[in-house]
Amino acid sequence: MKEKTLFQLNGTSSQLVVEVGDFAEILHWGKKISGSLESFRQSLYRPIPHGRLDNDVAMTTLPELGRGVFSSPGLEGHRDGHHWAPVFFLKNVEKSGDILSLTSEDQRAGLSLLTEICLDEFDVVKTRHTLINTKSGKYFVNRFANSMPLPARTTELMTFHGRWAREFQTQRQPLLHNGYQQENRRGRTSHEHYPAMVCGTANFSEIQGEVWGFHFAWSGNHRLRADVKTDGRRMMQAEVIYFPGEISLEKGESISTPWLYASYSENGLNQMSHHFHDHVRESVLADDFKNKPRPVHLNTWEGIYFDHEPEYIMEMASQAAELGVERFIIDDGWFKGRNDDTAALGDWFLDELKYPNGLLPIVEHVNQLGMEFGLWFEPEMINKNSDLYRAHPDWLLAVDGYEQPTGRHQYVIDLQNDDAFNFLYERLDYFLSAYNIGYIKWDMNREIVQPAHDGVASGCKQTERYYQLVDKIRAKFPHVSIESCAGGGGRIDYEILKRTDRFWASDNNDALERQGIQRGMSYFFPPEVMGSHIGADKCHCTRRRHSIEFRGVTALFGHMGIELDPVKEDGEEKAHFARYVALHKQLRSLLHTGTMWRTPTDDPAHQVLSVVSEDQSQAVVMVTQSAMPTHSLSGNLRILGLDSNSTYRIYILDKPKNYNDIVVFQPPWSKEGCELSGEWCKEVGLSMPILDPETAILIKAEKIS
Ligand code: DGJ
Repeated sequence: MKEKTLFQLNGTSSQLVVEVGDFAEILHWGKKISGSLESFRQSLYRPIPHGRLDNDVAMTTLPELGRGVFSSPGLEGHRDGHHWAPVFFLKNVEKSGDILSLTSEDQRAGLSLLTEICLDEFDVVKTRHTLINTKSGKYFVNRFANSMPLPARTTELMTFHGRWAREFQTQRQPLLHNGYQQENRRGRTSHEHYPAMVCGTANFSEIQGEVWGFHFAWSGNHRLRADVKTDGRRMMQAEVIYFPGEISLEKGESISTPWLYASYSENGLNQMSHHFHDHVRESVLADDFKNKPRPVHLNTWEGIYFDHEPEYIMEMASQAAELGVERFIIDDGWFKGRNDDTAALGDWFLDELKYPNGLLPIVEHVNQLGMEFGLWFEPEMINKNSDLYRAHPDWLLAVDGYEQPTGRHQYVIDLQNDDAFNFLYERLDYFLSAYNIGYIKWDMNREIVQPAHDGVASGCKQTERYYQLVDKIRAKFPHVSIESCAGGGGRIDYEILKRTDRFWASDNNDALERQGIQRGMSYFFPPEVMGSHIGADKCHCTRRRHSIEFRGVTALFGHMGIELDPVKEDGEEKAHFARYVALHKQLRSLLHTGTMWRTPTDDPAHQVLSVVSEDQSQAVVMVTQSAMPTHSLSGNLRILGLDSNSTYRIYILDKPKNYNDIVVFQPPWSKEGCELSGEWCKEVGLSMPILDPETAILIKAEKIS
C-alpha cells in the first residue's frame, strides 16, 4: 500500500480535496474550507458494515469493478476477452498550479491511465482521462467515463430535454436509487439530450441551495448518469457512447474522454451560471473574437428560403444596412442545383443559373454598405440527387448492404474517408479564399444512423473528424467567425464552442418559445454566444403572431439579428427593427460582458432576466409576461446583482404599445422612473406593472451615486 497524501485544488470559493495513494479519491468538492486538512482527514474514514465486502471500497476517480465497486465502472474493455476488469495503481502524481495529473497503471492488463483534474479561479473543474495501451495486441474499449462524487445531500436534479424548435427545456426530479440516465445516440449533441445537468440540495433555486453543475463537452453520442449507490453514496458519470467494436487501441495508441466541466455553487443556479459564463468567456472562446463587438446579423433564410435572385438579394442587403445591420448572410440555396431541400448537398459550387455574374458583385455590394458578408454551408451532408453522390456513392457514412433512412432527404458523408474530408476542406477553402467572407454558418440537419467506416462503427470518430475539419478551416482562417447550427440548437456544447463563436439556438423565432429556450440555454452559456433573431410578425415555426415590441426585446438578450426579408416589411415595422438594432448596439457591451441573473418571481407567468455590468454601474432587466398574470396584483419585481450601497435611477426603456391602456394606471415609477438603492432593489423591489400575456418590458438601472 502506498502512503496516502492529500492534494488540494482551490478555486475562488470552492475546493477539491483529493486523496492519492494506490488510487485517487475525491474526498471533498464543495465550499472552500480553511485549516489543516491533513488533520481533518481521519474524520472521513468509513465504517465497514456487515453483509458486504470485508474491506472499505473507495469511489475512485475511475471506479473499478476489480476493486469491488459494483456501480457503473469508469472503464469497460477487453483484450480478446481478457483484462476486462482492470485495476489501476498510481505511479506518479504531479501538481502544477491548479492542475493535478495522475498517472496509473495496470501492468497485467498493459494499460496506462492519465487523469487530469483542474479547478480554475472561476470555480470551474475540468477533468478527463486518457487510456494508453502499453502492450501488444488490440485493447477494445467499450466504455470510458468521467466520474465525479456527489455529497449525500444532493437529492434533486435539474435535467434538460427538448426537440427540434424547442431546445433547452428543463425538468426537475428527485435523485433516488437507480438514479437518472440520459442517452444520446443521434450523432450530434442533439436537441433532445443537451449534455448537462445540475444536482443540488432539496429545493435548490436560482438564488438558494447548493448545486453541482455538469457540462459534458462533446458533440456526439453520450450518456449522462446520476446515481444513488445501494450504500447511499452518490455519483455522476459522463461518457461517450461507443458503438460495439468502435474503439480498439493498438500498442502505443491512446484515447481520451472528452472534458467534463463542473462547478459547485453554494448560492443556487445563478452563481453556478456565473462560474460557467466567466469560464467560457475566459477559456473557451477564441481570442480573435473575445473583445470585439458582435455584429448584428441579417440572415436570408426565412426571408427568401431557396428563392435566390442577385438583384433582389442586393436590395435586401441595402435595406438591411439602413436598419443598422452589420453582417449580411446568404443562407441555404446559393449552390448548384439547390432549389429545395431534396437535392445538391455536397455540390459546393456557386449556382451559376441563379448567380450568372458570380458572387463577387454581391459580396462587394455588402462590403460597400459597410457590412460583413457571411455564407451558409452544411459540409458533412450529401443528397443522393447531387453530382457529388453520383461521382462518389462510396462516400456515404453507412453500413454496406443496409438502406439508410434519410433525414431531410439527406445522408451523411464519411469524414474518415480522406478523399471526402479533403474535398470538403478544399471547397470551404476555395470560398473563404476567393471572397471576403467574415462568417460562415455551419449547419448539420440530420441525425446519424449506423455510422460506419469500412463497416466498422464510427460514431465517435465521425465527431472527431468533424472537429478536425473545423480546426483546419479555423487554422487557415482564424478571422472568420463560425456559427454552429444543427437545425437550430442541435450542436451546442463547449467542445464545439472552442472552434466556433456563435450558436443558432433554435429554428423557432417565436418570441414566447424563445423566452424558454434562451433561458434554458443561459444556464451554461453567456448571452453573446446565443444567436437570437427578430423574426417575421407571423412566426414561420409556430404560425403565431407577436408584436414587434415582444420580438424585439426578446432578441436583444443574445447576439442579435434579423431573420426575414426587409424588402417585404412595411415602413412602420422597419422603423422598429432599426430601433431595436440601435438599442442592441447601445446595450451590446453590457449584455455581452455583464453578469446575468435569472430572478425568481412570485408568479410563474413572469420571467425576469437581467444583466448587470461588471462594475455594477448599470443593468438592463427584461420582464416577460408569458401568460395571463395569476393574480390581479403580482408581487414585487426585484433586481439582483446591483451594488447594495449605491443609488440607481430605474426607468423603463421599452414597453408594449398599449402599456398604459390596459389598466386604470400602471405603477408611477414606470412613468417617471425612481431612485433606489441596490439593496432595496434586491431585498424589496418595485411594484410589478400589469402586462398582457406574451408581452415584455425592458428596464434600465443606472448608478447615480
Ligand atoms: C436549418 C437552420 O437551422 C436554418 O436556420 C437554416 O439555415 C436551414 N437549416 C437551411 O437549410
